[in-house]
Amino acid sequence: MDMGFTARIEELKRQWPGNIALQCFDGQEYAALPQAARQRLAKCLASGVENPDSQMGCYACQPSDYDALKPFFSRVLARYHKVPEHARHVNDWDLSHIDGLPAGGLLDLAALGLPPLSMRVRAGRNLKDFPLPGAMDRTMRVQLEQRMMAAFEGLIADPAYGGRYHSLTPGNPCFIDERAYDELVAAHIMFKNMDQDRYLLAAGIAADWPHGRGCYVSADRAFIIWVGEEDHLRIMCMQRGTVLNAVFDRLKSALERVGALPGLQFAVSEDYGFVTSCPTNLGTGMRASVHMPLPNLTRDGTDAKARAIAGPLGLSVRGIGGEHTPIGADGTVDISPSARFCITEAEIIAALYQGIARLKSEEDKAAANHPKSEEN
Ligand code: ADP
Ligand code: ARG
Repeated sequence: MDMGFTARIEELKRQWPGNIALQCFDGQEYAALPQAARQRLAKCLASGVENPDSQMGCYACQPSDYDALKPFFSRVLARYHKVPEHARHVNDWDLSHIDGLPAGGLLDLAALGLPPLSMRVRAGRNLKDFPLPGAMDRTMRVQLEQRMMAAFEGLIADPAYGGRYHSLTPGNPCFIDERAYDELVAAHIMFKNMDQDRYLLAAGIAADWPHGRGCYVSADRAFIIWVGEEDHLRIMCMQRGTVLNAVFDRLKSALERVGALPGLQFAVSEDYGFVTSCPTNLGTGMRASVHMPLPNLTRDGTDAKARAIAGPLGLSVRGIGGEHTPIGADGTVDISPSARFCITEAEIIAALYQGIARLKSEEDKAAANHPKSEEN
């Protein structure tokens, strides 16, 4: 057995108390595992060992990893998501199960005094018959893309979807050049170059970039499916407006449609819900966000104040280009509920609405403390 590996983790564990995967590693438990399981666990830990500043510090590499390595992952999930170790996830999109929402469950930001904002809801999904992206080789990545392209034909032929697929794979008939790719990234439609993400690189998830990577975009550009990013698929609805239900309801029906396409069976764990590469996304795989201008809370040019208010409300603050990007020059930030696991889809979209309401009132208070006339 590789004693060097355990010794290295124990050493890093002492130095990096914020790395959840390292903190949840149990050397004795690891030593008692069969060799294949030890290798499997070590692979999941690779990103957090190479990047000990990680907050989560691990990624699943096989759809069955969460169940097969349950003692480790249940501790990781409990610690990150602040749930009991035996917690079981339940999926539910029904807003009528949530108390305290406006009549009919209409989540209209206009009722909060807000103008139309860019709204987006995405769900991470993986196919059950491929390894997760951290354990795929180039051939498998391209096979997965081919499988998806065949499935997209059904969507493209349907007037309710239409649109086209854009591929980054050299030689693919749907290949787009760098300029077209950059335009899609700037339009928030396509994902960023994964080769720049040291966490994804160390996990093996960014390997073989840009082979097997691409995105389907519907005719109205409001329904998008990423292929080959951190999860096999990130399926999303995105549009400017005030009614959050528009993106939520459309995503629900689109997920049902995509899940029924031939050859696409999503990986699901009986206890943990939808399987995702990162344990932060497990369960719903859902991130529901708006791009919200907070010029007064960000008047120092940083998101520090917005984060201080949003964090305790269970909201994450990201930059305008997504995770690990800066806030917009006009103080616009990306706001989303942080929770994905042991929360229902309906609770996530409701939490977004309620969180926006709270942030709006904090922003209004900050504006009142800094009347415009004081600026001159
Ligand atoms: P993910 O949301 O899949 O975790 P990122 O945070 O990196 O990944 O965001 C991916 C892309 O989606 C980025 O271009 C980001 O700006 C964009 N995005 C996220 N939320 C919104 C939104 N509400 N409106 C417009 N674009 C958004
Ligand atoms: N692996 C990184 C960490 O552990 C990022 C985790 C959350 N982000 C994500 N894209 N899954 O800190």
